[in-house]
Amino acid sequence: MKIAIGNDHSAVELREVISAHLKERGYEVEEVGTFSTQSSNYPEWGEKVARKVVAGEADLGIAICGTGVGISIACNKVRGIRAVVCSEPYSAKLSRQHNNANVLCFGARVVGTELAKMIVDEWLDAEFQGGRHQMRIDMIAKIEQDG
Ligand code: RB5
Repeated sequence: MKIAIGNDHSAVELREVISAHLKERGYEVEEVGTFSTQSSNYPEWGEKVARKVVAGEADLGIAICGTGVGISIACNKVRGIRAVVCSEPYSAKLSRQHNNANVLCFGARVVGTELAKMIVDEWLDAEFQGGRHQMRIDMIAKIEQDG
């Protein structure tokens, strides 16, 4: 499974830790930037991650900014993306099981490295449960289609 990962300047170090963790777990990782700690704009990096996922060039995405908020909003503007901001593992797990989230976001200024790894692991290890949850996701897709 391939994971696209992107971040703004606030999350360069955390992205390095998470990328290494993913590789250790056997995932293929594509880093889309930024690789610089110079101030940059989170929408650019969120969009890159999101477009990789909708194009099928990555199975899932991870996007990190200072809070996870701005980059998740940017990701969610790409049709077909269900990005979530999670600061703890429970929501991360449920966001896969119930919401079939395809991009995970968190904040480098919010979570520490060990908690971030735990959030990522719970998210990746969980499986979408389908059933009534699929119907609700279809409702979300309808909202997206209606514009
Ligand atoms: C950058 O200072 C900060 O605004 C950004 O990383 C993020 O937290 C936005 O939501």
